[in-house]
Amino acid sequence: MVNQLNRQMCSQLSEIKQFELLTTTIENYEAKESNLIQILHIAQVIFGYLPENVLKFIAKELSMPYSKVCGVVSFYSYFSTLPKGRHTIKICLGTACYVRGGTKLIEKIKELLSIDVGETTPDMKFSFEVMRCIGACGLAPAMAIDDKVYKRVNPNKLKQILDQYS
Ligand code: FES
Repeated sequence: MVNQLNRQMCSQLSEIKQFELLTTTIENYEAKESNLIQILHIAQVIFGYLPENVLKFIAKELSMPYSKVCGVVSFYSYFSTLPKGRHTIKICLGTACYVRGGTKLIEKIKELLSIDVGETTPDMKFSFEVMRCIGACGLAPAMAIDDKVYKRVNPNKLKQILDQYS
C-alpha cells in the first residue's frame, strides 16, 4: 500500500488518515534512525511537504532529537517545509537547455504566474522550480510539469500548456 502512494491520492485524505498512513510507513520501515530519509520521502508524498507537526511526529516515533530530523530535511533540497502547489513546474537549466533558451522559459513563467523560482502561486495551483538536465537534451529547451516532460518548448506556447492544468 505504502509503495503505491501518490501525491494526488494522498491530498484527498483527511489529516487523520494521512497520519495513519505515516504511522503505517514507520511501522513498515521499523522506527530506526537509519530509515529516516525513506520515511521523510514518503511523508512528503503523503502531506505534500514536511510541516513542523509531521517532523515532530517522526522525531518522536524514531526516538530522535527534532533538531536532528530538521537538519536532515534542510540538507536535502528535495525536501520542502513549505506547502507546494497542486502542480510543480520544473524548468531545465542544464547546459543544453540553458543554451537553447531555458532562461526565456523562466522569464515567461515569471511573467505569466507572477512568482519567482522557488515560489508557489497564491491559489496553490503551481510551484515553480529549476532543475538540472531531465534527459531530453537533444530536444532542448525542456521542462516538466509534475511527471510530464515537455520538449522543444516555445515560450509563446507556455500559457497554452499551463491552461491545461486545473
Ligand atoms: S540539459 Fe535540459 S534536458 Fe538535458
